[in-house]
Amino acid sequence: MNVCLIGSGGREHALAYRIKKSKSLSNLFIIPGNPGMESLGNLIDIPVNDFEALTEFCKENLIDLVVVGPEQPLAVGIADYLRSKGIKVFGPDKAAADIEVSKSFSKALMKKYSIPTAKYEEFGSGQKDEVLSYLTVSDYPLVIKADGLAAGKGVIICNNHDEAKDAVEKIFTEKIFGSAGDKIVIEEFMHGLEASVFAVTDGVNFVCLPAAQDHKRVGDGDTGKNTGGMGAYAPAPLITPQLQNVIDTKIIQPTLNALLAEGRRFIGCLYAGIMVTAEGPKVVEFNCRFGDPETQVVLPLVEGDFAKLLYSAAEMNLDKSSVSFSGGSSVCVVAASGGYPDEFKKGYEIKGIDQINDDDIIVFHAGVKKTDGKIVTNGGRVLGVTSVLKENDLKKAKEKAYTAVNKICFDDIYFRHDISDKAFDKV
Ligand code: AMP
Ligand code: GLY
Repeated sequence: MNVCLIGSGGREHALAYRIKKSKSLSNLFIIPGNPGMESLGNLIDIPVNDFEALTEFCKENLIDLVVVGPEQPLAVGIADYLRSKGIKVFGPDKAAADIEVSKSFSKALMKKYSIPTAKYEEFGSGQKDEVLSYLTVSDYPLVIKADGLAAGKGVIICNNHDEAKDAVEKIFTEKIFGSAGDKIVIEEFMHGLEASVFAVTDGVNFVCLPAAQDHKRVGDGDTGKNTGGMGAYAPAPLITPQLQNVIDTKIIQPTLNALLAEGRRFIGCLYAGIMVTAEGPKVVEFNCRFGDPETQVVLPLVEGDFAKLLYSAAEMNLDKSSVSFSGGSSVCVVAASGGYPDEFKKGYEIKGIDQINDDDIIVFHAGVKKTDGKIVTNGGRVLGVTSVLKENDLKKAKEKAYTAVNKICFDDIYFRHDISDKAFDKV
């Protein structure tokens, strides 16, 4: 089959890497892709938001399946448009993508269908007085979230009343999250350990891939600001088979059923951010696509015909038997531009990738571009240096990932030193 993948980050590099290994694949096109993916498919320069041009491209190139990586095009209806033109898409319609696009929608859905999550209240920017009086009677810490998309940064954890008042001021008056903060959700703080679960689904049936753990804070020991993710590992030993079963039956299946019942059938990857609390697993957030950088560690553990799995989901006839799991392990260390998630410089030459002579390492490219034949930095998260082992040995996987990342150099390079450490007391 001919597959067209949309996106240009580390997640899409990992998707391309895995799709490329699929027996059923004839041709892979990537729009727009990045220089790291050149050996995996044909990079096509069409603006992702030009749906008409995309449709024309798909028709001309006999595309059987479009796989959408990031949330933004899904949020503005890329899947609806392409489906209306008869093109099969792995990725939800706009109405189903609301599970990520609007925290207010996703919290209301979970409440209505008794899906375990933190208790919450919702306020609009016109309700500043109500919020402020609510904050005076709240327990702390609590969590304030912008309703809309904010690149993973729209969450403020407030340890006391002053911090909460300050957060509301910043969101409603200073508009730090723009219109994404026109509504806010205020949640109870959940204590526990987190994991990311990907359910590949046709909206009715699903298959969960091995669970991963992300590292959202910029600094070692989970300190500093929230980022898109500084590294990940899989499988996460926190998610035992018993716990996975609870997540499947109490969270994933009821959520898919709920979306179906609301007329918002979800086709694609439902990402559940899970907090394992003393009362059991609860949802921290849902996303409407694969996670980044979790995809970089999960997909190398998937065996079989991944393109066929995605196609079967898009066809609404999920074929779970097209994939299996290797039983291996993987650690991804994100090499970032110093300064990220705040301001950082771009355009530094990246050296050392060719010094990594280890078949167990894949260097997924993210914020990079090619200038005068050289690969240079072009984003906050630059590379995802990823070890992939056949055996489940996260200590060894960590060692290999760090040996490799230490060979990479560019000005201002920054990475965490403790990716996967959280797993070791569980292994
Ligand atoms: P989100 O973007 O909703 O995943 O939130 C980003 C991060 O904030 C999560 O990965 C958690 O570490 C933290 N967080 C979000 N909501 C809560 C909550 N209700 N209780 C505790 N931590 C939370
Ligand atoms: N790694 C978190 C996310 O993709 O949202």
